[in-house]
Amino acid sequence: MSAPNRKGTGLGDGLEIWLAIGPAAVIGGGSWVAAHLGSWSAGIKAPPAHPIDLIAGLVKGRVPWPVQSTVIAAVMAALLVVGAVLVLVAWAKGAGKRARVDKAARYLGRGKSLTAFSEKGAMATAERLGIKDTPGITVGRVVSTGQKFIQPWEDLSIDIWGPRTGKSTSRVIPAILDAPGAVVSTSNKRDVVDGTRSVRAQTAPVWVFDPQKVAQEEPDWWWNPLSYVTDEEKAYKLTQHFAVGSRTPGSKPDAYFDPKAEDILSSYFLAAALGELPITQVYLWVTEQVSRAPIEILKEHGYELQYKGLESTLKLADKQRDGIFDTPRRWSSASRAGTPCVGSHPRPGRPSPRPPAGSSTPETSHSHARRSTSSPRKAPDRPRP
Ligand SMILES: Nc1ncnc2c1ncn2[C@@H]1O[C@H](COP(=O)(O)OP(=O)(O)OP(=O)(O)O)[C@@H](O)[C@H]1O
Ligand SMILES: [Mg+2]
Repeated sequence: MSAPNRKGTGLGDGLEIWLAIGPAAVIGGGSWVAAHLGSWSAGIKAPPAHPIDLIAGLVKGRVPWPVQSTVIAAVMAALLVVGAVLVLVAWAKGAGKRARVDKAARYLGRGKSLTAFSEKGAMATAERLGIKDTPGITVGRVVSTGQKFIQPWEDLSIDIWGPRTGKSTSRVIPAILDAPGAVVSTSNKRDVVDGTRSVRAQTAPVWVFDPQKVAQEEPDWWWNPLSYVTDEEKAYKLTQHFAVGSRTPGSKPDAYFDPKAEDILSSYFLAAALGELPITQVYLWVTEQVSRAPIEILKEHGYELQYKGLESTLKLADKQRDGIFDTPRRWSSASRAGTPCVGSHPRPGRPSPRPPAGSSTPETSHSHARRSTSSPRKAPDRPRP
């Protein structure tokens, strides 16, 4: 792995400079001290104070070098060697404890900029938010001071770690266990559910949405996504969830086909909701293309613009209609993904999640999906009522 920061190499440059001038300074300074102290203890005339005069005098033999100066120089050299050995031993011990990334710590915040992330600072934020007992998510310890670094409940964070480096064990699972309110977790593995379910279930229900059998979890609840659709505006919003989740990231919406698909799909969602039909019926209508059932439902409930729009689409030539229906068919295919869990009718013996009464309701919702982009696509998040 490369150094965490290119500036980290500056330490090596500084060391080279010190290695070059250090010995000269130590030998010169040591000789000066030894000559003066030795002359003083031998009771002879003090040598010149100026270093150059002293060196010139010593070289030419004009300045005497008593035996006391040799003894003092030897003692100083011995002390220097012992000191250097002690420093090296202490440094080697510390280096064993320091992680490679700790070198980057000197480029991070310190002092006052960390106050909000101390236990006291995070607790103050938590209390302002009406949360007691828990200040936030413990991220780790500050390298320089050793104080706890806490992510307050108000803050967001993003973790970029390599695979199998401890993201789940050291970040995700502790964060879920400490959360004072509702938690929504998404994953492509079951380890997070296994690590948190027993604790979270003690205070509130835990819902696991696993249509692709990532966690081998049997559906034990039901939820009707169309319960959210009470008018044409909400039908359009639900359509947007499917559209955004189905588009390739970065791709531009098609100026002709995408608006048509939005019209068709939101009319069908509205019709299915009004007719109290399951969301999978929408997929069947889109595949069928010519069904008049949604038109009749919309007509019955007085949605003139919607049913007339659908009628005009149905009257198009087969080939053109095929092209127009292809986009809503792809978008609505995500509705099949949740078939084991969703449906407009209560399933016997299965509960249905209600929108939490508030953010303090400690329910946990786990959504599982495989990493692959192949169908069925990731189901959209449950929209807010
Ligand atoms: N502090 C630790 N000491 C020893 N083993 C650990 C420690 N933290 C995690 N592990 C082990 O390292 C492995 C990877 O941990 P974890 O599943 O948390 O990583 P991850 O980054 O979430 O992995 P993935 O990328 O697969 O999601 C696991 O087998 C876990 O038991
Ligand atoms: Mg993980």
